[in-house]
Amino acid sequence: MTASRSPAPTSPAASAGAPAPAARPRPGAPGEPADAPDSVGAIYEGLRAVGYLPGESTALVSYLATKLGKPVLVEGPAGVGKTELAKALARYLRRELVRLQCYEGLDEAKALYEWNYRKQLLRIQAEASGTGWDAVQDDIFGEEFLLSRPLLTAIRSERPVVLLIDEIDKTDQEFEAMLLEVLSDFQISIPELGPVHSRTHPVVLLTSNNSRELTEALKRRCLYLWLDYPALEHELAIVHLHAPDLSEAVARRLVEVVGMVRDLDLKKPPSIAESIDWARALLLLGVEDIDADVFTETMSVIVKHRADMDVVAERVGLKLGSPADVA
Ligand SMILES: Nc1ncnc2c1ncn2[C@@H]1O[C@H](COP(=O)(O)OP(=O)(O)OP(=O)(O)O)[C@@H](O)[C@H]1O
Ligand SMILES: [Mg+2]
Repeated sequence: MTASRSPAPTSPAASAGAPAPAARPRPGAPGEPADAPDSVGAIYEGLRAVGYLPGESTALVSYLATKLGKPVLVEGPAGVGKTELAKALARYLRRELVRLQCYEGLDEAKALYEWNYRKQLLRIQAEASGTGWDAVQDDIFGEEFLLSRPLLTAIRSERPVVLLIDEIDKTDQEFEAMLLEVLSDFQISIPELGPVHSRTHPVVLLTSNNSRELTEALKRRCLYLWLDYPALEHELAIVHLHAPDLSEAVARRLVEVVGMVRDLDLKKPPSIAESIDWARALLLLGVEDIDADVFTETMSVIVKHRADMDVVAERVGLKLGSPADVA
């Protein structure tokens, strides 16, 4: 994504603070959801209206995802708004958010579906006397005995949803392989029932902290969005949004200091989430300026490793001692 295209608002109704544009059915390209926005500018303003301030590439990729019906792989460091983007899209498109939280050892039974063994057993017992196995088998492998997990829920939903597959990098490659059918064909094959096709087209977001390289097969099926720490003015706007009562001067100083901390070689640089927490903490404490003392007292809100604290206290604390040093 180049920085050459600046998404422009397309309609007065889409200005910040206005309600999200209503979903309206209209003919579109194959795979394009009926409620897809009309332009990059519309989705940019729509996301802002529901409390998410997207960067240019975020608005563009979100637009393409809704138009092309392709999943988006969102990668980036912790706390830069990957999960929140999916939630904001669901709010903007007025769709239910179906979330699959990934973890090590996640298997199909927790991600796709499971047979309800207890119910099957009860049915077998109820039908036991005089009923042949074939008849019982036909009976107990019907939809009634399926326990739907997030992926099947998203596929079977009558109304289009936003499907968030969060932290996909925590699973293993076998799980990724299993996902391919869902991501490219929007269907799930259940051996006893056959393929279940999607009734509506979900907008799918996968997030990753990049803790392991994902397979090429998965990447090929997705659009790609790299979310990084935002530029100063962008982060300032996000801080204002989450802590509107913090003064402009303190908020600006805060994002400058966070930027300085990020420039150090730390185990865990502060993210947007930490900037927001710090802003709220400073507001609560009634701080009017971030000097060396305030910084030392409150830096544990943004620096969360013992080793990092020493580096930050020494390097940033010193700089704050003489405000002229702050670029
Ligand atoms: N562009 C943005 N506009 C508004 N709020 C944002 C934006 N980006 C991040 N935030 C806020 O930052 C916080 C962290 O975001 P989120 O939880 O989505 O991060 P993440 O990238 O999913 O982190 P992790 O990798 O740890 O899961 C949330 O409170 C979110 O509201
Ligand atoms: Mg997240």
